[in-house]
Amino acid sequence: MSNKGAKNLFIYGSLFFFVILVLLTIDTMDKIDKRAPEITADVDAGKMVWHKYDCIGCHTILGNGSYFAPDMTKITDNKPKGYLKKFLMDPRAVNPGAAMPKLGISSDEADKLITFLEWMSKVDTNGWPPKPILAVAAGSSGKELSAGQRVYQTLGCSNCHMVNGIGGTSGPDITHVGSKRDKEWLFGHFKNPEAYVPKSAMPAVSASDADIEQLTDYMLSLK
Ligand code: HEC
Ligand code: HEC
Repeated sequence: MSNKGAKNLFIYGSLFFFVILVLLTIDTMDKIDKRAPEITADVDAGKMVWHKYDCIGCHTILGNGSYFAPDMTKITDNKPKGYLKKFLMDPRAVNPGAAMPKLGISSDEADKLITFLEWMSKVDTNGWPPKPILAVAAGSSGKELSAGQRVYQTLGCSNCHMVNGIGGTSGPDITHVGSKRDKEWLFGHFKNPEAYVPKSAMPAVSASDADIEQLTDYMLSLK
């Protein structure tokens, strides 16, 4: 190849790949915009509170942060807002064993944080982080689920409770709840937790009475 040929190859070759780079960058920017909902002033305010208390010193979000505490990217998908608010303002009032300290978060700050976390949960992360495998959260591996167990799974109780070592730790372990509570207490508590446990952070169960009854029977079988 002549000198001139080599020079042309260098210039046009570089130009060609530069144009491809620009096109791909534009394409990516376009896609990123669509992966996240609009950032409102409230979301922004929530992010400021997130920084103020250095939540990332213990938690991860989108994979960034510390691995001391659970990832917060999709937290509002499996924990209702009322619960989150109570937990944020006073973790140990919700869960006496909580390792998260009471940080002094005000009611207004908690609302803002939840708005931010809700926005975060809506960001399309291609299914990340993977959902924990809670499949047979009933100690009935291999066996057919009872009606009550099915209600338990459908309502996502295992996001917060553990039965036989499977489930979350936000609420008490209910592996033996059947020997602690009776039918009336369980049914009533499901319909209105705060009437039975002052300031309870458990969300009232929204299901038909028939389903709640089956859930109660399942609880009574946990001894
Ligand atoms: C000193 C470490 C620490 C800091 C700082 C901290 N957390 Fe936590 N957080 C934890 C731990 C540990 C847990 C797991 C539950 C527990 O043991 O308390 C947790 C749990 C949570 C939960 C989930 C509760 C549940 O039941 O699923 C939320 C929501 C949360 N933190 C939000 C925040 C936010 C928002 C901030 C900043 C304002 C924050 N945390 C700051 C340690 C921390
Ligand atoms: C967002 C978290 C959360 C969810 C979801 C949740 N709970 Fe709870 N649950 C709690 C908390 C916190 C408590 C402790 C306060 C109380 O007793 O009301 C609790 C208490 C209980 C108790 C009383 C335990 C005891 O030892 O006194 C039972 C039973 C129970 N939950 C069952 C369920 C079932 C069944 C579901 C699904 C319909 C469910 N919970 C959903 C957080 C949750």
